[in-house]
Amino acid sequence: MRRVTPALFRPLELGGITLPNRIVVSPMCQYCADDGCMNDWHFVHLGHLAYSGAGLLMVEATHVTRDGRITHGCTGLYSEHNEAAMARVIAHCRRLSKNAIGIQIGHAGRKASSQVPWEGRDFLRADQSPWPTVGPSALPFGEGWHVPHELTVAEIRVLVEAFAASAVRAKHIGFDVLELHSAHGYLLHQFLSPLSNRRSDDYGTDRMKFALEVAHAVRDVWPKERALGARISGNDWVEGGLGPADAVAYAKALERAGFDYVCVSSGGLLSHARLNIGPGYQVPFAHEVKKSTSLRVRAVGMIVEPDQAEAIIAEGKADMVAMARAFLDNPRWVWHAAERWGVRLDYPPQYARSRPDQWPGSRLARPQALTKETQ
Ligand SMILES: Cc1cc2nc3c(=O)[nH]c(=O)nc-3n(C[C@H](O)[C@H](O)[C@H](O)COP(=O)(O)O)c2cc1C
Repeated sequence: MRRVTPALFRPLELGGITLPNRIVVSPMCQYCADDGCMNDWHFVHLGHLAYSGAGLLMVEATHVTRDGRITHGCTGLYSEHNEAAMARVIAHCRRLSKNAIGIQIGHAGRKASSQVPWEGRDFLRADQSPWPTVGPSALPFGEGWHVPHELTVAEIRVLVEAFAASAVRAKHIGFDVLELHSAHGYLLHQFLSPLSNRRSDDYGTDRMKFALEVAHAVRDVWPKERALGARISGNDWVEGGLGPADAVAYAKALERAGFDYVCVSSGGLLSHARLNIGPGYQVPFAHEVKKSTSLRVRAVGMIVEPDQAEAIIAEGKADMVAMARAFLDNPRWVWHAAERWGVRLDYPPQYARSRPDQWPGSRLARPQALTKETQ
């Protein structure tokens, strides 16, 4: 009998880097930065997730301009201060773990100027220091939301440069992975979807134009020996909106632009969209993209149980799984999954005594090993 390494714990080549396993901490906004700058919350939050054992830790959606932030508390990479504050946090994470760290960059477009979730997640009211928003067309996200200014071509060019400038800051900080946020109804997604882009110029007749200009601009500045990807939308969940076939077409274009991976999410484009949420509900979208491209593909959304995650990878539906809420709930998710299958992970030495084999007698039983006859 030989122990077989579960698919989840097999290494993955991603662009120029190798992830030690397929488990990713999904990007998660913390809504508590100071004018885009990370602070002690991020120091602790990312620090403890850095030694979670996940092969890749993704840093939250970080905005390429100040006005592109979703909320007053969102992180940015639009100033030297932002860069220095983030460099401090990432240097700290590096001291704690060798696993890869990535960053997601984006612009909120018409969904900027929002309240943080614990204040309602709605648009900022007049007494909450709102700011003007922008979008492909002057169409709001929902009833009562700020009507965005329709970006001119000159303003679009400035934003393409802002994405590239933030990518350069991320490169200086030393991230292993850069991810373009082109899902969840934020600016790049707003340009991609026919429900939010009603332009009659080239950026409307070719709705991928803006996103691909950004993709090429970041590809030009992002090192080939690291990894470059995008979060894309598999479904707008509104009639007439984007669906899985559009995700495939966009992923193919990103592949041609030299991207290494996509993470397939969905929703967020219109406030009234109703998502059909259930366990692994976005995995079929990821699978569609995986079947049609050579990109590495990450699945996300209601992936909670180790067996569920293992099946997604083992059945070839995706190459990586990302989890958000499961990691907030249980930052030891990876350790426990590894224990269960008898996979040996490096724990920080300070916590080594929590490993079950260092703690005989106090656990009811050793984890069930995934075993199979040697083939
Ligand atoms: C607190 C929180 C913050 C989030 N922030 C981001 C973000 O910055 N960028 C992003 O693409 N998705 C963000 N998401 C979505 C998650 O990355 C993930 O796609 C979603 O929660 C579904 O995965 P889950 O079921 O594992 O939570 C966030 C989710 C949560 C719970």
